[in-house]
Amino acid sequence: MKDKGCGEIAEADIGSELTLSGWVFRRRDHGGLIFIDLRDRSGLAQVVFSPDVSEEVHSIAHELRSEYVVSVTGEIRRRPEGTVNPELDTGMVEMYVGRMNILSRSDTLPFVLDNIQDVSESLRLKYRCLDLRRPDMQRNLMIRHRVAKIMRDFLDREGFLEIETPVLTKSTPEGARDYLVPSRVNPGRFYALPQSPQIFKQILMVSGFEKYFQIAKCFRDEDLRADRQPEFTQVDMEMSFVSEDDVIGVVERMLKEVFEEAMGVNIDIPFKRLAYAKSMERFGNDKPDMRFGLELKDMADLAGEGSFKVFQDALAGGGLVKGLCGKGMAGLSRREIDLLTEQAQSFGAKGLAWIKVKDGFESPIAKFFPGEILRKMAERLEAENGDLMLFVADRANVVNDVLSRMRLDIGRRLNLFKEGFDFVWITDYPLLEWNDDEGRFEAMHHPFTSPREEDVGKMLGGEVNNRKELASLKAKAYDIVMNGNEIGGGSIRIHMTDVQQKMFRILGIPGEEAKEKFGFLLDALRFGAPPHGGLAIGFDRLIMLMVGASSIRDVIAFPKTQKAVDLMSEAPSSVQKKQLKDLSIKLDIVVEEKDT
Ligand code: AMO
Ligand code: AMP
Repeated sequence: MKDKGCGEIAEADIGSELTLSGWVFRRRDHGGLIFIDLRDRSGLAQVVFSPDVSEEVHSIAHELRSEYVVSVTGEIRRRPEGTVNPELDTGMVEMYVGRMNILSRSDTLPFVLDNIQDVSESLRLKYRCLDLRRPDMQRNLMIRHRVAKIMRDFLDREGFLEIETPVLTKSTPEGARDYLVPSRVNPGRFYALPQSPQIFKQILMVSGFEKYFQIAKCFRDEDLRADRQPEFTQVDMEMSFVSEDDVIGVVERMLKEVFEEAMGVNIDIPFKRLAYAKSMERFGNDKPDMRFGLELKDMADLAGEGSFKVFQDALAGGGLVKGLCGKGMAGLSRREIDLLTEQAQSFGAKGLAWIKVKDGFESPIAKFFPGEILRKMAERLEAENGDLMLFVADRANVVNDVLSRMRLDIGRRLNLFKEGFDFVWITDYPLLEWNDDEGRFEAMHHPFTSPREEDVGKMLGGEVNNRKELASLKAKAYDIVMNGNEIGGGSIRIHMTDVQQKMFRILGIPGEEAKEKFGFLLDALRFGAPPHGGLAIGFDRLIMLMVGASSIRDVIAFPKTQKAVDLMSEAPSSVQKKQLKDLSIKLDIVVEEKDT
């Protein structure tokens, strides 16, 4: 039904008769002539109905409405002088229609497709079939396809095998809540949907496949945000006989190829690397946006020199005082500074201390510090006349979290972000992270992540016992950060049973429980496991950043809302009583039932 895509007609077609098929995107009736923009996935073509070509077709064209599906045949002509549309790929030419077939009609749309600015996202998600017709969404999913294809080809060339792993499986240890699926044939038992293929890919290494990858669906029941979905896609990889640099190298080469081929953008490899501790110190988090400077500075020594109680209390309690320089922001009014303070408080700070540099120092807290100290503070923050110094004092994690977010906000406010794509590896992660609520250590990445060589020795030799020593252990783990977003993470794994068992003990997972949960991995490690490691790229996040979307939902065909609902199919839904009975499940809440 079509000789070409609507977006593909060109000057070379002038004079030939072609058939195009697609949707009526826009329609303009100029009395004598009727114009439609005909749309298919390749783009738009201007199609003209003129009574001079066919009175009959011209009169039927009056019936056309938005989103009617039509097939049109006619001559491709050069557009008359002055009507060329340089915005459109096909803007030099147009079709004069001689024959038309209306293939399908459309009801009035719930929203107009070429202007969705004021359309709520829930309406777009409910009528996703229409939303996905929009050229922006089509482009996003086309790039997504292209990137997946480039990655597959790249990994194939590098000797990786694509191997599928199960979706009905046992709980995996990524740390979120599991989605559970009841088993009918094993009443009272449940599968867990995989949070990642982690254990399976390690088993594949023990089985000798050496290089594995999979574009895998992962499921995590966690609180959702703009960059999180309950089901999302990973480009999951694992390799045997490798070091951290080998894994990092493959990923860099793959991303280079992806950006070059999918977007025509050159990115320089190798990427920067930054140790976790440095990242926390300079940026306050482990996903630094390094497209601009404005780094955080530790002010503890100087803050301690004054008599400001807030700073002294924080330091006495083992906390931090860190500062940030708002370039050119000394002009802010009291009211504007109050708003900034409220913002810091909404991020979890108790307050926000500030000092304006204005031919001297202007601040309610200036009186607590000798002039010499104020000058040193300004020097450290590289604050000059006209700048605003900001400080937060609190426990380390609060200070870092608040200031890392203030930094991004000020970066936005001052328009500091450099154009383009910025990549950095975060390395040298701690092996363990203290969970204050539960009073125990957790694995920072996951429990299969290998400690550094020297730390393995210490762990097995019984040299690490107290909390401080445990906290100082480092992992062979790495995250990749793009424009301030964590787009992937991985590690070299533990391949020795004794180390893995020791790790479980440190994590407070008793032998029995370890066996019950991860027995099949422990078993596998007993039979000659090669050293191995890998990484998973958050595919949706990567695509989101590549296409410049503000939400991960704009690069997923059928995403879920923040409440994990699919507004189109209305999942999750209640089920029939009989279905529950088959599964031996009794609900202890009352839900609206589905035609029982
Ligand atoms: P991790 O848990 O870091 O590692 O996940 C890898 C990457 O997946 C992305 N991601 C998500 N994307 C969208 N929605 C979510 N809910 C979501 N959660 C994570 C992130 C993240 O960097 N098995 C390990 C990998 C390994 O060690 O090889 C793992 O899953 O971009
Ligand atoms: P106060 O002593 O509460 O009047 O606070 C004096 C100034 O210190 C105000 O600007 C507060 O916003 C600020 N402030 C209060 N607590 C903190 C804190 N934990 N860190 C940084 N500044 C703070």
